[in-house]
Amino acid sequence: MKVAILPGDGIGPEVTRQAVRVLEALDLPGLTLFEGDVGGIAYRRHGHPLPAETLAMARAADAVLFGAVGDPSCDALERALRPEQAILGLRAELGLFANLRPAKTFAGLEGMSALRPEIARAIDLLIVRELNGDVYFGEKGTDTLADGRRRGWDMMSYAEDEVRRIAHVAFRAAQGRGKRLCSVDKANVLETSQLWRDVVSEVAGEYAEVTLEHMYVDNAAMQLVRDPGRFDVVVTGNLFGDILSDQASMCVGSIGLLASAATGDRTTAFGTFGLYEPIHGSAPDIAGQSVANPVATILSAAMMLRHSLGRESEAARIEAAVARTLGEGVLARDLGGSATTGEVGDAVIARL
Ligand code: IPM
Ligand code: MG
Repeated sequence: MKVAILPGDGIGPEVTRQAVRVLEALDLPGLTLFEGDVGGIAYRRHGHPLPAETLAMARAADAVLFGAVGDPSCDALERALRPEQAILGLRAELGLFANLRPAKTFAGLEGMSALRPEIARAIDLLIVRELNGDVYFGEKGTDTLADGRRRGWDMMSYAEDEVRRIAHVAFRAAQGRGKRLCSVDKANVLETSQLWRDVVSEVAGEYAEVTLEHMYVDNAAMQLVRDPGRFDVVVTGNLFGDILSDQASMCVGSIGLLASAATGDRTTAFGTFGLYEPIHGSAPDIAGQSVANPVATILSAAMMLRHSLGRESEAARIEAAVARTLGEGVLARDLGGSATTGEVGDAVIARL
């Protein structure tokens, strides 16, 4: 089992370190970890946020564990050299079109939610975010209009096969959960969304046992705070999924808690090839202070064991250890506690 560890920028290395410690504590025979540079650190060391060696390492692995990228000192660089291009490039180059972002409230942490505890308690949803298309990867540019005004533009588009393949992922996920799928779009305004809605409805014919509903993204944002317990699986495009998953994290309590998996069609000897990362960013404001919450990255490692390495029982052990750690009040600063990043890692390892 070959795993590429890509810590990245800001708090990325701190949180990834704890996830690696948890993996090492499992003492899995045949697990080999390789480490590579991505993001701003890679730009400074190699002149590119996604160096060829790093991409090759990711391709050769069975799974990638990714920390975070983003570095304010790189914001003035041309877009192609900015740290974010590392994650966008990996998603595109590795064909990782399906992003699974589960959000579930931890017992005992209901009080940390931005919502009232009785509303937060019911949250157990999965956002299935398309990851290879949309306005993220469309043609884009800046120019100056004839009258001298500057303009920026980004092309939003989805081809039907791109919608169909993510719809299948979402329907299959719903089959394995509560059998309810909510497809989120903006079909009242956008042609891209109308096609999305039509194709998702077509695919629904193959999944008779799943109940499909369509919802406009503005309404979905509202329902997510009004009654998040109503959602089971949510499927949506790249941009809406980016926004709604950050929102879902604060409904659960902290963006430091949410893990994610990015997968595609490629399989490995043990499961599906994938890239696993916390949904949070590099948080440069708290980097290097040992206050970052490593839980999202540790839970991403658990998802990696489950989906890419065929190690369901170890994944479940990590998740149970994290739940106990949080339930017993070992909390980092984002959750109102004072445990350091390493102390949270220690607590999870002790409970494994
Ligand atoms: C995420 C992040 C990325 C995204 C950024 C870092 C490019 O916000 O994974 O949600 O927008 O997809
Ligand atoms: Mg995001």
